[in-house]
Amino acid sequence: MTDAIPHLTLNDGQHLPQIGFGTWPLDDAQAQTAVQAALACGYRLIDTAARYGNEAGVGRGIAASGVARSQVQLTSKLRGSEHGFDSTLRAFDATLAALGTDYLDLYLIHWPLPMRDLYVDTWRAFIRLREEGRIRSIGVSNFQPAHIDRLLSETGVLPAVNQIELHPDFTQAALRAWHARQGIVIECWSPLGRGEVLKDATVARIAQKHGRSPAQILLRWHVQHGLVAIPKSQDPQRMRQNLAVFDFALDAEDLAALALLDGDHRQGGDPDTNDER
Ligand code: A2P
Repeated sequence: MTDAIPHLTLNDGQHLPQIGFGTWPLDDAQAQTAVQAALACGYRLIDTAARYGNEAGVGRGIAASGVARSQVQLTSKLRGSEHGFDSTLRAFDATLAALGTDYLDLYLIHWPLPMRDLYVDTWRAFIRLREEGRIRSIGVSNFQPAHIDRLLSETGVLPAVNQIELHPDFTQAALRAWHARQGIVIECWSPLGRGEVLKDATVARIAQKHGRSPAQILLRWHVQHGLVAIPKSQDPQRMRQNLAVFDFALDAEDLAALALLDGDHRQGGDPDTNDER
């Protein structure tokens, strides 16, 4: 089943499957159960963050799944309170200990926090950790082009990934085009708009036309736009459904109808002002 998931190539030569499993806002116990079930369904990209407070549960879920660590692409994120060179190195060690692993496939700076102005020093620590072989790929989350430009000009290293909020009600077309030009893959958090976009009548109509669920229509939209999506679900049936989006395609008419949904509606924080630590 996992062979059927297409992968995108990152600018550092690594690959990411186009559908992964998100774990926000699960607690440790919920994350353990959900991650074990997701791996059994065929997910191989698992996304967590120090700030979610569920890294230990995620680690236990992977261990309990019986899937070899080498077969799982594990992502975590540095929380805002740990920005800075030395604190990043310490926070990374704590993340590995919580997850029960000795490397990460992908590590992201969770938010840029431009008001603190420490993300470049933080990025230097990420580069060091990658050079030491303790992280395969390094990236960012919720960064705007100006923040990424600064990383590049001050360190010469471009992120492999930017994980941002993106769904048909918040398509960020200009931002997508910018990332494509830079060769940065976009991972989309809340691809289902935290469940809100699932209720849309156009999505329901297209779902009926294809004999699919609304969630499958939204996730297929991400896949056809060359994005990675990381839906969260606690329900194994929905987990399977969210992964089964590679055996049908939206046509031009569907895509045109979905393009009209964009209300520029964020469900989450704004990268320029959010101060989540
Ligand atoms: P649940 O965990 O009960 O399945 P997002 O990933 O955009 O943040 O959306 C997550 C929300 O969407 C959760 O409330 C989740 O609830 C719900 N969800 C996930 N997959 C599906 C699905 N296939 N159908 C309906 N709701 C879903």
